[in-house]
Amino acid sequence: MAELDAVTGAFSFTGRYIAEELLARGRGVRALTRRPPDPAHPLADRVEAVPFVFDASLTERLTGVDTLYNTYWVRFERNETTFDRAVENTISLFRAAKSAGVRRVVHVSVAHADETSPFPYFRGKAATEEALRASGLSHAVVRPTLVYGPEDILVNNIAWALRHLPLFLVPGDGRYEVQPVSVWDTARICVQAGSRDEDVTLDAAGPERWAFLDFVNLIKSHVRGRAVVQTAPVVVAHTVGAFAGLALHDVIATRDELDATLAGLLASDETPLARDRFSEWLAEIGGDLGLAYRSQLERHFRGEARA
Ligand SMILES: NC(=O)c1ccc[n+]([C@@H]2O[C@H](COP(=O)([O-])OP(=O)(O)OC[C@H]3O[C@@H](n4cnc5c(N)ncnc54)[C@H](OP(=O)(O)O)[C@@H]3O)[C@@H](O)[C@H]2O)c1
Repeated sequence: MAELDAVTGAFSFTGRYIAEELLARGRGVRALTRRPPDPAHPLADRVEAVPFVFDASLTERLTGVDTLYNTYWVRFERNETTFDRAVENTISLFRAAKSAGVRRVVHVSVAHADETSPFPYFRGKAATEEALRASGLSHAVVRPTLVYGPEDILVNNIAWALRHLPLFLVPGDGRYEVQPVSVWDTARICVQAGSRDEDVTLDAAGPERWAFLDFVNLIKSHVRGRAVVQTAPVVVAHTVGAFAGLALHDVIATRDELDATLAGLLASDETPLARDRFSEWLAEIGGDLGLAYRSQLERHFRGEARA
């Protein structure tokens, strides 16, 4: 019998590619999921789907699992969905893993997770990392920078805006760096980390990095965008983005997300472990990137998108 691993988010973005990497290595996958999978999803009949609810049932869901790959997190707060709640939920997931006898946990965090960060996203991730280290579970913490791939939201929507809008505002001077990592590399790094025994914390970052302004212009050239790309004070870029978000029934980028990007938190301080080059992917996919807008609210806050 194939060894069984559990993945949270297997029907979403990064978790899907972790699940595919595990299946390609002959392992079985149990997907912990908030809602029944779409039967058309490529993994729908390749993984065992079980409900992902943060209660006593979690231990049972994790029984028989060798390694738990956790991608669960929230991008921003909205109504009952808060970072504090996401931290509590993540800690209860780790507790359940321990009670169930899971051998190892691979926790997807974020580059520059820091308990002293001014940004609750990064502080919350640091709190989950600390809880995992204190749990006594064998673990790997994988910290991606900016993950790109077929279903990503951020890069797709930059491309969408460059194609469809007359103006694209880059907050600040645009010189702060981004270092994208492919979703395939991220998955490979996670699964390799899962097969090890020692406790590790490592960044998942790609081999190329750009000033954000150059990154946007690179995408523009590949998608043949018509937008004029212009730097603007952060407050202006954020206000314009907030109005655009209202028109699109979405949250395009929070002020914290812009400030974290300006602080260079989407680039790594470590030697890159990933090999896929964003520029090559863009050359391959450019014609298709950003054809349709992808809504964070539609994807993760279904039922609230038009609230
Ligand atoms: N994407 C990036 O650029 C990036 C960069 C650095 C770190 N990370 C980290 O990498 C991990 C995977 O990121 P991803 O972008 O691939 O995420 P994702 O697949 O979009 O979501 C990951 C998981 O979180 C759940 N989730 C997302 N929003 C939620 C909400 N509002 N309420 C409840 N559950 C929610 C999803 O559940 P449903 O599918 O059921 O909604 C899914 O199980 C995350 O931990 C993220 O913090 C991502």
